[in-house]
Amino acid sequence: MTGEAGLGKSRLLAEASSAAISLGFEVLTGLCHPDDHAIPFAPFVDAIRQRIGGLSTSDARSFLGSACPTLAGVIPEIATICVPGAVLRQEPEQAKQMVFE
Ligand SMILES: Nc1ncnc2c1ncn2[C@@H]1O[C@H](COP(=O)(O)OP(=O)(O)OP(=O)(O)O)[C@@H](O)[C@H]1O
Ligand SMILES: [Mg+2]
Repeated sequence: MTGEAGLGKSRLLAEASSAAISLGFEVLTGLCHPDDHAIPFAPFVDAIRQRIGGLSTSDARSFLGSACPTLAGVIPEIATICVPGAVLRQEPEQAKQMVFE
């Protein structure tokens, strides 16, 4: 979301977040760091990393569900959550490239 300073961006996001929570949705927050501009889906990657950060591997696997293998394409370390004992084979640069293929 972009707009002039003071336009109401933060307020709109806060209102949308409250409305979603009151409807029973879980709201994740991902930040847009200037240094991350070359990383595909950077704010989504940030949000998911934060959400699963404190979880055990099995809780993280439950949370990610069937999306786990797909998300592992953009968040390489997730591969070790989807498949217990899996070894990371992809370099982050390769994973990034996969997103564009
Ligand atoms: N639709 C609205 N109705 C009433 N007040 C509003 C509305 N949208 C925003 N405001 C108020 O206007 C002020 C500025 O809004 P906000 O902080 O969301 O702007 P912003 O776009 O995030 O600004 P910045 O670029 O500085 O971060 C806040 O006090 C906010 O509560
Ligand atoms: Mg703001």
